[in-house]
Amino acid sequence: MYYIANFKMNLTYQETLAYATEHNDELEELAQDVANIVLCPSHESIALLCKLFDTTPVAIGAQDTSNHTKGSYTGQVSAQSLHQTGCTYCIVGHSERRMFNHEDNDEVAQKVERLLGFDITPIVCVGELSEEFEAGKTRQVLTMQLAPVIASLKALPGSQDKRILLAYEPVWSIGTGKMANTEHLGTMFAWLKEHLRDAPGTWQLLYGGSVNAENAAELKKIEHIDGFLIGKSSISFQNLKKIIK
Ligand code: PGA
Repeated sequence: MYYIANFKMNLTYQETLAYATEHNDELEELAQDVANIVLCPSHESIALLCKLFDTTPVAIGAQDTSNHTKGSYTGQVSAQSLHQTGCTYCIVGHSERRMFNHEDNDEVAQKVERLLGFDITPIVCVGELSEEFEAGKTRQVLTMQLAPVIASLKALPGSQDKRILLAYEPVWSIGTGKMANTEHLGTMFAWLKEHLRDAPGTWQLLYGGSVNAENAAELKKIEHIDGFLIGKSSISFQNLKKIIK
């Protein structure tokens, strides 16, 4: 099972450092025992965390990367730079970036390509808005969000050997405490599995959106869920630990 902790902009540099140093041993133990743990701090803390967890099975991920390779792109961080820090995962297409930074599906596909070029595993986020869910358009939305990613993988040499994590996160579930029922999620994950059957690469499916210590056990029973993308509940190490256990 994958447990991706997305700290978003909730922890400062010093808070991230404190989290990592205080719980270094326990995180290492948890990762050894049961889980693929990936901590995703904001960019300024990535290199530091990569060093702190260097000799452990705990992996470090970024929350975003540039869709460009290199050049005059103020404020952006390239996949190559992430790779040089030791970062091995990167979230792309998170709904907060789609919403606040107008990231579109083509950009997401470009980012996936940049990341795979440096052996960074992309964590591609997809999900429908509340009104799209109500209108029964979830599959339609996910199909559109995934189409450019799948198309660019088909054109990318060697993509067959790559691993991609796909996080299905209903936007209306993120940070709200609201969640689709397990039946709906079961149907969606079975559909995603089928939808990706002929896409190049090895895909693993994550669920994200209000995952917490109370609902994790139930969610783990859903077929085809290989892990979780956890926002709010990952900020408290004790909550993250309960979810993993
Ligand atoms: P949440 O966030 O766990 O706070 O709902 C999930 C996410 O944004 O990835």
